[in-house]
Amino acid sequence: MELTSGNISLRALRESDAPQLAMLANNEKIGRNLRDGFPYPYTLEDAMSFIQKFMHSPSLFAIEYQGEYVGNISLTPCENVYRKSAEIGYFIGEPYWNKGIMTTAVNLITEFGFKELGLARIHTGVYEYNPASQRVLEKCGFVKEGTFRKSVFKNGQLWDEMRYAKINPEVEK
Ligand SMILES: CC(C)(COP(=O)(O)OP(=O)(O)OC[C@H]1O[C@@H](n2cnc3c(N)ncnc32)[C@H](O)[C@@H]1OP(=O)(O)O)[C@@H](O)C(=O)NCCC(=O)NCCS
Repeated sequence: MELTSGNISLRALRESDAPQLAMLANNEKIGRNLRDGFPYPYTLEDAMSFIQKFMHSPSLFAIEYQGEYVGNISLTPCENVYRKSAEIGYFIGEPYWNKGIMTTAVNLITEFGFKELGLARIHTGVYEYNPASQRVLEKCGFVKEGTFRKSVFKNGQLWDEMRYAKINPEVEK
């Protein structure tokens, strides 16, 4: 499965992405915005075991920009009564920030989730100190539904989390 828009593609992870994943992910400015479990420092072994775990997953895509691996984006289905929802998650390496890459990637995966997977809703949470990610979601038509006050304990402190969601226009009618 490959999703493409211009010079940006979403495709399955490959073992050959490991060195670039390790290089880009080994940056404190990335892990601080993600859930614990994303290691720092981030080693080549971390990259290889992540790729082994997710290279056959239908929920995890590598992001390619001009033919180069630059980051990951995931769309994780929810369960039980939430099975028409999925959670989106993403990161891109710092050398590639502010080029509009993640805005395109989020638009691609959202369209895939609505049109191909029949999802009704895609959501995520963004920590209060991450305006770039909030901006990406707003540019992609996600709506801020609320603030989970002091819900995140990250790096020894409590933070608010902003919750964003987009509804499939087909079910909004
Ligand atoms: C957040 C992240 C995904 C953005 O990716 P990106 O490819 O740089 O995003 P885009 O270029 O598509 O858009 C970024 C937008 O944020 C804006 N922005 C960047 N830094 C900002 C800041 N400090 N304050 C406000 N807006 C900011 C940019 O100007 C741009 O908006 P614009 O197009 O209106 O100018 C990327 O920085 C990243 O991977 N960060 C680390 C991991 C992370 O935060 N993941 C998301 C967890 S919820």
